[in-house]
Amino acid sequence: MDKEKVKICVLVSGGGTNLGALIGAEKSGILTSGKISLVISSNADAYALTRAKEAGIKTAVVDRRTAKSREEFEQQMIKLIDEEGCGLVVLAGFLIILSESFIRHYEGRIINIHPSLIPSFCGEGYYGLRVHEAALARGVKVTGATVHYVNKITDGGEIIEQRAVYVREDDTPKTLQRRVMEEAEWIILPKATELVCQKILSSNKANTNKDIKN
Ligand code: GAR
Repeated sequence: MDKEKVKICVLVSGGGTNLGALIGAEKSGILTSGKISLVISSNADAYALTRAKEAGIKTAVVDRRTAKSREEFEQQMIKLIDEEGCGLVVLAGFLIILSESFIRHYEGRIINIHPSLIPSFCGEGYYGLRVHEAALARGVKVTGATVHYVNKITDGGEIIEQRAVYVREDDTPKTLQRRVMEEAEWIILPKATELVCQKILSSNKANTNKDIKN
């Protein structure tokens, strides 16, 4: 019998190198408890969509600008995610802040990658290159990345994985961003995703056993 897997929806907005790391992890056997079943992009031009299509993954574009309201935008995503039967939502460079009601809908089943060691350089306004600009401006010698559960506080949910990266004297925001991706993000995101999928599978099993007993 095939191994049971959690269907994963990855939300993206840009280049999708973290999505690429997840796709690679599925191929190499690092991610075995989950299957990337759907990629939703908030931006029709995101290169992440090409990566998904090349890997044979179903894609959709849900554009915040063409939706009438934030509620309509989120309802469109919820419909796609739930109809696909996804048990886990991974925010991989998804640059739109989600409402409390969206997050509640996926409580314990939604995770995010952030390019700093939380609680440094995180929260509203800290995304993408801005995070690395802030880290260099503050003069930190060590930075890194964090994967955490998503809750109503931006970048405030329980931490799942972190990895540190040393800052070099000659780093620019761009060189630092690239090294944080290579040395931290692309390693911890697949690892954390596998861990969370395992957790979801065992809690599904426990609930099924409870139903059988009742
Ligand atoms: C990544 O560095 C990710 O950590 C960051 O955006 C980049 C997306 O790159 N996310 C945030 O800043 C969220 N606050 P990618 O599209 O190549 O994966």
